[in-house]
Amino acid sequence: MAKRIAVLVSGGGTNLQALIDAQGRGEITGGRIEAVLSSSPDAYALERAKNAGIPGYVVNRADYDSNKAMTLALVEQLKELRIDLVVLAGFMTILTDEMVDAFPNAILNIHPALIPSFCGPGCYGLHVHEKALAYGVKLSGATVHFVSAECDGGPIVLQKAVEVLPDDTPEVLQRRIMEQCEWKLLPQAVSLFCQDRLRVEGRTVRIL
Ligand code: GRF
Repeated sequence: MAKRIAVLVSGGGTNLQALIDAQGRGEITGGRIEAVLSSSPDAYALERAKNAGIPGYVVNRADYDSNKAMTLALVEQLKELRIDLVVLAGFMTILTDEMVDAFPNAILNIHPALIPSFCGPGCYGLHVHEKALAYGVKLSGATVHFVSAECDGGPIVLQKAVEVLPDDTPEVLQRRIMEQCEWKLLPQAVSLFCQDRLRVEGRTVRIL
């Protein structure tokens, strides 16, 4: 029975597109994207879902007075859709514990750095690459991890590194990491999960 996947988005949806394209190539074994849920009504990611014939939903952060209230609304929608795997792809709202409680070790997030570097509260989008360049690292990349109660702190599933080049700007580095790391890692991790090939052992994830 194919696992039912929901992708949570907030913006451009390039990671969602990578998942849609991978699914189209038959690379998401054992799972199917059943829904896209956006925290913003005008996220281009919703257009991408529509073009792919995937039902889109808006759970607008502006309609709720707290992250907790929004999280509860999302959990209810995801349960109604009988979702087995929640994928955060450029999702910009911090989810409260209720989401992790509802989907233990069944929420994957893509972070545009090699965790534990350049992660945690306030470290998202372009800020991540600004910090990496300011620090002077020679390598950066992306991480797919299970979502736990600690922001960007869950067990790491996959990582991929790229070189940081002398004249990189945050935008150039972000693009390289998206193209060479994020858009490759996320579909791989989703497919492994749907094949029941990810075993969480404490802080580490064994790939079967
Ligand atoms: C990107 O910076 C990505 O690294 C992070 O969210 C941002 C937007 O992603 N996960 P997307 O294009 O909306 O997938």
